[in-house]
Amino acid sequence: RTSFGLIVTDHPPAFLGCFRDVFVDSRLVLPVVVPEDSDAQANITVGCSDQDKCDDSPCQNRGRCVSLGWRSYVCECHRPHEGRNCAEEYITARFGSEDLESYALFSLDADPGDTVTVSMFVRTRQSSGLLLILANSTSHQYLRLWLEEGRVKVQVNNFETLLGRDVFSDGHFHLVSVKLDAAEATLLQSAHRQGSMHIRPVQAHPGDLVFVGGLPDLRASASFGGYFKGCVQDLRINSKRLQFYPISTPVESYSLEKLVNVAQGCSSDNTCAANPCLNGGVCYPMWDNFLCNCPPNTAGQRCKDVKWCELSPCPATAVCQARSQGFECLSNVTFRVESNILHYRSNGMIQRSLRTVSLSIRTRQSAATLLHAQKDSDYLTVSLLDSHPVVELQVGADRVRLQTQGLVSDGEWHTVELSMENQTFLTSRWIMAVDGGQEEPSLSKTPAGGLDFLREGADIFLGGPSPDAVVKFSGCLGTVEIGGLPLPFHHDTEMTLPRPQEERFTRINSNAGLHFGCWGASVCARNPCENQGVCEDLFDLHRCKCTSEWTGPTCQESTNPCISSPCIYGTCTNLPEGFKCVCEPGYSGEQCEAEVDMCENSNCGNGATCLKGSESYSCLCPQNLTGQYCEPPQLPVFTCMGTRWNHSCFNGGNCSEAENTCDCLPGFTGQW
Ligand SMILES: *[C@@H]1O[C@H](CO)[C@@H](O)[C@H](O)[C@H]1NC(C)=O
Ligand SMILES: *[C@@H]1O[C@H](CO)[C@@H](O)[C@H](O)[C@H]1NC(C)=O
Ligand SMILES: *[C@@H]1O[C@H](CO)[C@@H](O)[C@H](O)[C@H]1NC(C)=O
Ligand SMILES: *[C@@H]1O[C@H](CO)[C@@H](O)[C@H](O)[C@H]1NC(C)=O
Ligand SMILES: *[C@@H]1O[C@H](CO)[C@@H](O)[C@H](O)[C@H]1NC(C)=O
Ligand SMILES: *[C@@H]1O[C@H](CO)[C@@H](O)[C@H](O)[C@H]1NC(C)=O
Ligand SMILES: *[C@@H]1O[C@H](CO)[C@@H](O)[C@H](O)[C@H]1NC(C)=O
Repeated sequence: RTSFGLIVTDHPPAFLGCFRDVFVDSRLVLPVVVPEDSDAQANITVGCSDQDKCDDSPCQNRGRCVSLGWRSYVCECHRPHEGRNCAEEYITARFGSEDLESYALFSLDADPGDTVTVSMFVRTRQSSGLLLILANSTSHQYLRLWLEEGRVKVQVNNFETLLGRDVFSDGHFHLVSVKLDAAEATLLQSAHRQGSMHIRPVQAHPGDLVFVGGLPDLRASASFGGYFKGCVQDLRINSKRLQFYPISTPVESYSLEKLVNVAQGCSSDNTCAANPCLNGGVCYPMWDNFLCNCPPNTAGQRCKDVKWCELSPCPATAVCQARSQGFECLSNVTFRVESNILHYRSNGMIQRSLRTVSLSIRTRQSAATLLHAQKDSDYLTVSLLDSHPVVELQVGADRVRLQTQGLVSDGEWHTVELSMENQTFLTSRWIMAVDGGQEEPSLSKTPAGGLDFLREGADIFLGGPSPDAVVKFSGCLGTVEIGGLPLPFHHDTEMTLPRPQEERFTRINSNAGLHFGCWGASVCARNPCENQGVCEDLFDLHRCKCTSEWTGPTCQESTNPCISSPCIYGTCTNLPEGFKCVCEPGYSGEQCEAEVDMCENSNCGNGATCLKGSESYSCLCPQNLTGQYCEPPQLPVFTCMGTRWNHSCFNGGNCSEAENTCDCLPGFTGQW
């Protein structure tokens, strides 16, 4: 299956492949079995079984095998591997080991060509430092590469600058490449494009110098963040290597001129040598770094932050809160008449500016002094007036008074926050906000200075204006802070650990009469509610929840008006619109309270006397009168018709039926 011409020509290389059915003049020439030692056929075997060399995977380190016919191959190695089978690796150079000032210097002994692409593997944990400088023979640095804020920065021709996007100094190897075209510089980091910029053309020439990791002059290096600390491997300009330590595979390399404090390999500094972990943390070395295994109550890279609250330093009545470099024991506290007014002083170590006051409060008192702090003529007072929070502040000659619209004496928790309007100034107007500014905050008309007079030697009172005040605050206070520093309700001696923070306010009088937590007066203890009403404690105020039949502040009034028997002489009926009395006879009025005068309109006439009875009256008649109403006797209207014996005829007269007249006895006359 090939031309004879290929066989008969004597040009090497010899044919590599298989033949079959080769006939010459109808005679089979190939394949033909001949004795092994025959000269007629050299290096020919029967069959067609040769194997692809790449099938053996000869390329190491993920190198790609490219088959070249049956008998040969080449490996395309991944950087930084090299050699026929990619078995070798470029030798890493360690810069800045144990913080030595190190650098390497190469010179370009051949023309690198029209474009310049610098590429290398870099590993570091430093966020700044000089990586590489290309300079021409008259010291013009036309390409600079350094680290800034953990990212790679490129500068071309001392002018155009580009900063990489991705953070670089994470202790892993990254492949950095900078490509300078005729008009553009491009920065890549592990194949991720970091950006590009327009540049004026750059040309590298033989004799140019390449500084790696630093410049001979310490001060010159300093302007790029100092000497590089880390490792560089497989540095190339275009495809030509710059080897710090040569590998055994021969490769084309620019010549190394100088190697100062650059070590072979990529060993780590001995980071745990001077144990960097505090508070008993255990150091584990990592490459140019360390890891502290911190005891349970500490945190931070160097176990510097003690988790104070995990040491349970606070008494049971308080909640521990971590503060910078320390902790506070926070609690609520109840003030009553018998409570002491709390007295505080600074510990004399307060450095910060005190420009805020905050407190939370729960009370039903409408007037009281909550906080009073004084030093000489400077003072601060936070009080309640007509249930409104009021602040009075005098600092030097400045005096400020603030009152908010918000009402706080309703038995609920409220916060009062006082601060300087603009804390960048020494004096400013002051703002007071209640409940986080739910109401319009109030702003002082004039400015005044801050509260720095409380930093030392000032007396601060909580719960009243002075230690012996008669009128005291009654209610609860939550956390009270001045400049972010609490006025603690607990004495330092009540804590299992002293508070470690430097800046502190400290209690200086006893806790007598102080109740931790917020407790209202026992308004329901002697149940004030009647008729099975349930007493609700509304903090220093009670409310009776009455059953449906009762109402009124103490459930003293019935919702059924008949219960109170409002009908005096009558029967009560409960109607939706109220009660109705049905009066007994003889009574009237809404509640049947009025006796009816039976004789008022009596019919007793003719001088009769009316006699009242319970249901009616009777007439007491004069002697010559009779009848119910003592009416004069009326002559009956008689007829004598039909009646023989009838009284209708007087004096013995007989009724004459026919004529309706009386037949009078002699001596009498008249109709009857
Ligand atoms: C046969 O192959 C071997 C190894 O490739 C070579 O050295 C030798 O010269 C070859 N023989 C002939 C006759 O070409
Ligand atoms: C080096 O570069 C500078 C600025 O481009 C140039 O002025 C100087 O001539 C160059 N030196 C050489 C030797 O090319
Ligand atoms: C103080 O009282 C408030 C309101 O009841 C509560 O939320 C807070 O947890 C209390 N604070 C402490 C330290 O007990
Ligand atoms: C404080 O005053 C400065 C300077 O006038 C100003 O820039 C800043 O915005 C002010 N801050 C507030 C919170 O008003
Ligand atoms: C009743 O008697 C009195 C005196 O006894 C007399 O004055 C009066 O007129 C009499 N009335 C009649 C209605 O007869
Ligand atoms: C007398 O006559 C009247 C009128 O008719 C009658 O009502 C009355 O009963 C009579 N009396 C007697 C005793 O018969
Ligand atoms: C009335 O009648 C009786 C009996 O009938 C009689 O005796 C008497 O004389 C009569 N009187 C007169 C006035 O007629």
